[in-house]
Amino acid sequence: GIAIQGVKLLAEAGISQVPPKFIRPPHERNSIAQCSPHHIPLLDLTHLHGHNRHLLLEQLHTACKQWGFFRVINHGVSARICDRMMEVVNQFFDLPIEEKMVYYEGNILKKGTRYGVSFNAETDEVLEWRDSLRHFCCPLPEVVETWPDKPAAYREIAVEYATSVRHLAEQLLAALSECLELKADRLLRSLGTFIQTLLMNYYPPCPNPELALGLTAHSDISALTVLLQDETTGLQVSQDGLWVDVEPVPNSFIVNVGDVLQVLSNDTYQSVQHRAITNSEKARVSIVMYCAPSLDTQIFPFKELVDNDHPPLFRGFTYADYRTSFYSKRREGKQPLESMR
Ligand code: SIN
Ligand code: FE2
Repeated sequence: GIAIQGVKLLAEAGISQVPPKFIRPPHERNSIAQCSPHHIPLLDLTHLHGHNRHLLLEQLHTACKQWGFFRVINHGVSARICDRMMEVVNQFFDLPIEEKMVYYEGNILKKGTRYGVSFNAETDEVLEWRDSLRHFCCPLPEVVETWPDKPAAYREIAVEYATSVRHLAEQLLAALSECLELKADRLLRSLGTFIQTLLMNYYPPCPNPELALGLTAHSDISALTVLLQDETTGLQVSQDGLWVDVEPVPNSFIVNVGDVLQVLSNDTYQSVQHRAITNSEKARVSIVMYCAPSLDTQIFPFKELVDNDHPPLFRGFTYADYRTSFYSKRREGKQPLESMR
């Protein structure tokens, strides 16, 4: 049906009510009563290099322990490439539906480039008010020919964006290794060949933001996630049972701990639930870079962090098995990770 082709189409058809498939049970809906006035921590990465590095590392450590989410500024990725990436992603979603459907893939587990609707439109009990495009970013340059070739600048811009964000992610992984009192390359090496995946989300204006969600609450299965959002609010992070709005801040990225980092750090850091709400006024775009281990990587708490007083809190598993089980079930908060204890 039309919902399978994209909620952007539905929104443009001018519907005044979302179809019943999008209506959330009351406890999942966005409500003022559950909004928190707090803000996620803000880190100035200028201090990654310089005599204040130890102070930045302290902030980073606290942010990953207490929040699992933080914002970075002065991160070294140029404003030009972020703006251009936003532009080509918007142009992709603005393509006629037939051009997007070339990349439609119902099976969420299938590797490669995928345009889709909701999390898994074929099995979701309640649909998300979201269209998305996903593809791998490695190995470069071979993978590029599997990416959309429209808009014409997409491939070139996405290569530059992926390369820049990978550099940022590697610096963060080195800093986090240091925060955990590990060797600087420990986290990066533990990811095997470090799989980078890009997910572009398009949330059209929604006639019933009080009933529907853009994205169901979940934690990321990745090690680390680096997210760019446009100037529309929508992302919310769970903290103490309330939802914290991640307000747009120009020239910043949002970074969050994924399940893999929680396991490797043996619960020192936490991957925190987040979701996206909708609004009736404006479309919203987010560009999400997942930094994940290669599929055959064994995930187990770092041996340096485990001893008689600190037993491993998770059993070992391969990332492939974890990913398959995550995508085969319906999303249920942190259930996937908890089942690995
Ligand atoms: C995500 O969690 O994958 C994306 C959230 C967002 O759209 O900001
Ligand atoms: Fe996420």
